Amino acid sequence: MKIAIAADHGGFPLKADLVELLKQAGHEPIDLGAAECIAGDDYPDYALLVGKAVQSKQAERGIVLCGSGVGACIAANKLKGVRAGVCHDTYSAHQGVEHDDMNVLCLGARIIGVEPAKEIVLAYVNAKFNTGERYQRRLNKVLKIEQEG
Ligand code: RB5
Repeated sequence: MKIAIAADHGGFPLKADLVELLKQAGHEPIDLGAAECIAGDDYPDYALLVGKAVQSKQAERGIVLCGSGVGACIAANKLKGVRAGVCHDTYSAHQGVEHDDMNVLCLGARIIGVEPAKEIVLAYVNAKFNTGERYQRRLNKVLKIEQEG
């Protein structure tokens, strides 16, 4: 699976390990930066890059890393078609995909260490949307909110 990933300075410490994990798990990470840690850079810029990659289907899923995961999540969710969630546990990471069709995972490198982050990322990428009627119905309602406000 093609997975876009990006991080601001707050999320940067996790990025290289997660890119490597994705490669080792047979995925194709698309690293959208930052290429090096840039003190004072801005998480919306990275959320936008990942969100656009998912929107345009350049990537099937995305991962955005910032200090807490929260700012990245708020910014990513401004893009139509992006369903981002902050997940610092494996249950939310797979259930967010299975029930909610989450397509962008947000993590905070100031909150979670690299080993739990790896488990969370694997739970996320291995999960598939459950197309049961109730999940599709709820997703349709979310999409209607997105369309109509
Ligand atoms: C950057 O200092 C920090 O505010 C940012 O990475 C993120 O945590 C925002 O939610």
